[in-house]
Amino acid sequence: MKRIPAISLCLGLTALSPLTVQAADANPVVNRDKVSMCIGCHGIPGYKTAFPVTYNVPKLGGQHAAYIVKALQAYKNGDRTHPSMRAIAAGLSEQDMADVAAYYAAPAAKAASK
Ligand code: HEC
Repeated sequence: MKRIPAISLCLGLTALSPLTVQAADANPVVNRDKVSMCIGCHGIPGYKTAFPVTYNVPKLGGQHAAYIVKALQAYKNGDRTHPSMRAIAAGLSEQDMADVAAYYAAPAAKAASK
C-alpha cells in the first residue's frame, strides 16, 4: 500500500497547478508553469524516479511535440499503463498536453533537461 500517498501527491499537485489556464496557442514560454509538476520526475539527472520502484524516466526535452502528446493521450485513455503517468495524464486537457509538449520540444527545454 505504499503507492497510495505518492499517487495522491501527484493528483494533489495536478489540482494545485495552474492547468486551467487556457492558452490560444501552444506557447513554450508560458508553459513553464505547466511543467512544474513534471520536473520532479523528468528533471532528475540520470532520469530515474524512486516510485513505484526505481524506474528509468524517459527524457522529454527535445522530443517531438506530437510524440509527447500521443504518449500523454495513451496514458490518459489507458493504452499505456504506468500508474504515475496515468494519474498525471488524467488531469491534463488536450490544451495542457499541447502546451507541455511545446515546452519540451522547444530548444530551451532540450538544454535545460541535461
Ligand atoms: C511521479 C513521477 C512522474 C511525474 C510527476 C511525471 N512523469 Fe512522465 N513519466 C514517468 C515515468 C516513470 C515514465 C515512464 C513510464 C512508462 O514506462 O510508461 C514517464 C513517461 C512519460 C512520457 C512518455 C515518454 C516516452 O518516451 O515514451 C511522457 C510524454 C511523460 N511522461 C510526460 C510527463 C509530463 C508532461 C508530466 C507533467 C505534466 C509528467 N510526465 C510527470 C514519471 C513521471
